[in-house]
Amino acid sequence: MKYGFFDDSAREYAILTPKTPYPWINYLGNEKFFSLVSNTAGGYAFHTDARLRRLTRYRYNDIPLDTNGRYFYLQDGDALWSPGWKPVKADLDSYECRHGFGYTRFNSSKNGLRAKVLLFVPNGADAEVQMVTLTNESRAAKDVTLVSFVEWCLYNALDDCTNFQRNFSTGEVEILGGAIYHKTEYRERRNHYAFYSVNATPVGFDTDRESFLGLYNGLEAPQTLLDGKSANSVADGWSPIASHRLRCTLAPGESKTYVFVLGYVENDPADKWAPAPEPGLLQTNPRMRVLNKAKALALQERFSTPEKVMAAFDELRAFWDGLLSRFTLQTGNARLDRMALWNQYQCVVTYNFARSASYFESGIGRGIGFRDTSQDMLGVVHQIPERARERLFDVASTQFEDGSAYHQFQPLTKRGNADIGSHFNDDPLWLVLGVGGYVRESGDTGFLRVQVPFDNDASNTATMFEHLRRSYHYTLDHLGPHGLPLIGRADWNDCLNLNCFSTDPNDSFQTCTNKDGANAESVMIAQMFVYVTPDYAAMCRLLGLEDEARFAEDAAKKMAKQICETGWDGEWYLRAYDDFGHKIGSKECEDGKIFIETQGFGTMAQIGADRGYPLKALDSVKKHLDTQYGIVILDPPYRDYHVELGEVSSYPPGYKENAGVFCHNNPWIIIGEIRSGRPADAWEHYTKIAPSFLEDISDIHRLEPYVYAQMVAGKAARRHGEAKNSWLTGTAAWNFVALSQWICGIRAGYDGLTVEPRLPAEVRHATIGRVFRGVKYTVEVVNENPAGAVTLELVSGDAAIDGTLVVPGPTADVITLRALVR
Ligand code: GLC
Ligand code: GLC
Repeated sequence: MKYGFFDDSAREYAILTPKTPYPWINYLGNEKFFSLVSNTAGGYAFHTDARLRRLTRYRYNDIPLDTNGRYFYLQDGDALWSPGWKPVKADLDSYECRHGFGYTRFNSSKNGLRAKVLLFVPNGADAEVQMVTLTNESRAAKDVTLVSFVEWCLYNALDDCTNFQRNFSTGEVEILGGAIYHKTEYRERRNHYAFYSVNATPVGFDTDRESFLGLYNGLEAPQTLLDGKSANSVADGWSPIASHRLRCTLAPGESKTYVFVLGYVENDPADKWAPAPEPGLLQTNPRMRVLNKAKALALQERFSTPEKVMAAFDELRAFWDGLLSRFTLQTGNARLDRMALWNQYQCVVTYNFARSASYFESGIGRGIGFRDTSQDMLGVVHQIPERARERLFDVASTQFEDGSAYHQFQPLTKRGNADIGSHFNDDPLWLVLGVGGYVRESGDTGFLRVQVPFDNDASNTATMFEHLRRSYHYTLDHLGPHGLPLIGRADWNDCLNLNCFSTDPNDSFQTCTNKDGANAESVMIAQMFVYVTPDYAAMCRLLGLEDEARFAEDAAKKMAKQICETGWDGEWYLRAYDDFGHKIGSKECEDGKIFIETQGFGTMAQIGADRGYPLKALDSVKKHLDTQYGIVILDPPYRDYHVELGEVSSYPPGYKENAGVFCHNNPWIIIGEIRSGRPADAWEHYTKIAPSFLEDISDIHRLEPYVYAQMVAGKAARRHGEAKNSWLTGTAAWNFVALSQWICGIRAGYDGLTVEPRLPAEVRHATIGRVFRGVKYTVEVVNENPAGAVTLELVSGDAAIDGTLVVPGPTADVITLRALVR
């Protein structure tokens, strides 16, 4: 069942009912000010850090779901309703929510009154702009009341939902004209405040939640709306809010547009206060000093008219069109072409937010993961290489001298998170992969020579390349009894906690360690080591370090041989060895006989290709792990908790790391299939998890059909096929890598661009566009036999062709190629 449709020409997903199977959300903002917005106008806003600078309040795990947001109430005669359906939930005559790239709009009507709402965060502005247009489509004049509502969060989102003994006494506001200012804690250590303004003179306002709602009412029926007048409340502790009441008379056919700005301001500590209260100012306590509002007024002025708003909106659209023009795909298969677009959008959003704030991540948990962001990079580096560079610098700055790394860091402070610490032994290798991806894309060899601190200590630095060298050697210096890398706390699978041995439910699986770590080994880290070696060796050579390059190639050969000897189970690659030296992911195991991760990295790195291992492993994936909704992470699921395995065995069968479909590593199999010469199998795997292909089963899948989710319940679960954790997941980047680099076959290399399309058989002709190091490539693909040989022809432009490698000439700016696959 479908709940909307892709409007391809508008580049929007149009949702036609507020009653989607779960809130279907979008993200606004691309720099520092961010908002989440659901298809019923729910969500929240924050600046830079979802935990430490939360601007509006959200209640997690609420019933019904998703009941706080930026809300509008419309009163027209006896009718009370909301353009986003919530919070009033009155039946609407029409409803539509459209999520676009960086913006969301609503278009609803009731009783001849139409409300259009446009929400976005303009580039270069610390504000969410909300433009509301009301149109009288009836034949009689209408007196319409519009009431706005946001609830402030007292900035620290964790403290805000736990520390009531303090927080119910600290709330402070100021009110001036159409603007309501949230100044809680500004008098002490905060140099920032938020505001909510409208470009009109309200006939009433509220800033105290209880006065607005009434003690016993919910957001669907505020007392002030039932009474027909605002309480004009001035918050004094408790829960400060911001609500405006506006009134207009609309003749038949007449429209009226209001602009609301939800803004954030930081002031210099020396310049925090205004010299004197402005005339007409109201504030919590008239004896207090008043905010310096200069920056807020400038923001309000910047978006004071619909014309200014539309100019900023056009800029935003042009910005996204630019970002999304660097890789384009036209195949005639609409669902595939949509993925090329929406997958890239999700990659940028995931990159911005890491795993912090979604409808499954509360924004008060972890910061930015070392391995997560190094992988997210792979999905955005062709769009925003400068920002990838900056983030890679920050990530590498949290590395320790021995090559290990903090597992996470906080975006606000950029410092390693000591609570979670280090010793996830795969982390260092992801840095090599991320930096390799960046240097291949940008050609910026100089980055390898930049000085980067260890553990954020500016007095202790080494070149970026030296960081990579230590990452690479960290693996070699930490080998276990079978000659495979020691796993530490976990590898990519955060739940394979082989040194944890926890029997206390109060322990965190990720930080509890009861073993010395000298035995448990990861086959996956061994395979990653082999997989990243070509990148590492190439970067050595860029710096003239031929000896180190040869050393690495030799080390990778030995590691691959070791995997064949101690990491192969006969029909598939083993997953790991536990602390006792027992196999994990072997036919000898009762549960957890086969895992996806090592079949993915083993085949991506083509380990044991001369012995036929990759194809055997891929066939085993089909036989044991594949389902109609994607490939499960392992099989059979663990029925019992295994102290020697950790969190993986803690989940019920079919969920998360215990045999859910982890969409993050399905693309590893897709890539492995293509590398092993079976594009048709790759395509089948691709279509099973790509969200646009699942639109018709939205009732089963439940989450947004325009973005990937981290997990789909596996075959052992009652709710097989149901997705969870949409948006912020490494799934986005890896599926884009699978699509762009392997299915479309466009790969950035150190010397040029490789073009080797492996499109599905049903696509006979395709056009692929790619901007690479400033040169615009267009590839016309003629696809006669997807697994056949690829012949490249230069149609126009300055380039040399060497097999499937295109090396641009000195005058290249536009290059057109034909790729014959037959
Ligand atoms: C989550 C984590 C990621 C981890 C994966 C598997 O997606 O963000 O770091 O690799 O789960 O456990
Ligand atoms: C990853 C895993 C999750 C685990 C978490 C711990 O997100 O997906 O299962 O609980 O890491 O940090």
